[in-house]
Amino acid sequence: MRAIRQETLGGTDVLHETEIPRPDPGVGQILVAVHAAGVNPTDWKHRAFGLYLGEPPFVLGWDVSGTVTAVGAGVSLFAPGDEVFGMLPYPYGAGSHAEYVTGPTRAFVHKPAGLSHTEAGALPLVSLTAWQALVDNADLRPGQRVLIHAAAGGVGHVAVQIAKARGAHVIGTASAAKHDFVRGLGADEVIDYRTADFVKEAGEVDVVLDPLAGETRLRSLETLVPGGILVSILPVRMDEVHARAAELSVRATSMLVEHDQAGMKAVADLVASGRLKVHVSGTYPLADAAKAHAEGETGRVTGKLVLTVR
Ligand SMILES: NC(=O)c1ccc[n+]([C@@H]2O[C@H](COP(=O)([O-])OP(=O)(O)OC[C@H]3O[C@@H](n4cnc5c(N)ncnc54)[C@H](OP(=O)(O)O)[C@@H]3O)[C@@H](O)[C@H]2O)c1
Repeated sequence: MRAIRQETLGGTDVLHETEIPRPDPGVGQILVAVHAAGVNPTDWKHRAFGLYLGEPPFVLGWDVSGTVTAVGAGVSLFAPGDEVFGMLPYPYGAGSHAEYVTGPTRAFVHKPAGLSHTEAGALPLVSLTAWQALVDNADLRPGQRVLIHAAAGGVGHVAVQIAKARGAHVIGTASAAKHDFVRGLGADEVIDYRTADFVKEAGEVDVVLDPLAGETRLRSLETLVPGGILVSILPVRMDEVHARAAELSVRATSMLVEHDQAGMKAVADLVASGRLKVHVSGTYPLADAAKAHAEGETGRVTGKLVLTVR
């Protein structure tokens, strides 16, 4: 099968389309013919720095949408021919930037009929991240006010919609050119982080979802009501965040996304009921994975980039 493999860490030029053996599904696994696979910041961070995977060779890609072609021993939830989407176990289950990939059944759910493979391939990692941050960690409830940074990005644009579906009052940050897009997702207020002080503009909030870290994360603690919670999805340098949170009598936590069938079911339900739509701003054929990495690494993408594999 064709796969985008790398032998060394480095720039986009280390990504090569290569023929490698097609994997066989092990116990509890399914083999999926990949139709589409999202590209995420963690792909280019792993490509360049190894991050949690260490030294290559490896095939990246955690998002999958495709068709089940074989099942391993003990699999009862899926059968060949089923259309599925999901996120491979993060970080060690990567490999969807290829024609086929195997993963545990509990990483997948059936793809809603009205959702294209391209859309389904864009959703899993960002929507599970937003769901696990807002629902599992923050327990976001109706009427609460939530501040979502980078609301036009992959995680942010899905988080805005999940928060609205939970009945929250949503405040997003984005550059001015993206305000109409973020309002269109359902955000009640949008703050231009380049020209305004988001701490003054946001007022008091119950929950912050922060994909940015640095000064933005620290200052976001000042927007929280006593007992409110900040969920960071960059689990680095949290010591200073916890210290400042304690001073302000607020809570702070950080998380890494996990494969999660219950979360995927919730996401599929939101999609099927029309409350969650993914915005795919660009697609690339598998062979052009390097171009997708290069566009993503600009940090300016609106919504998602997807590799179309078949
Ligand atoms: N912990 C986890 O499991 C987990 C999961 C998913 C992602 N992440 C991490 O979260 C981060 C975001 O991921 P993503 O997929 O959402 O990235 P992304 O799609 O690449 O985010 C791009 C968006 O960020 C916005 N942005 C950049 N700087 C901003 C700022 N200072 N304030 C507000 N918006 C800003 C840009 O909008 P403008 O053009 O308007 O600036 C752009 O639309 C990445 O570092 C990623 O690795 C972690």
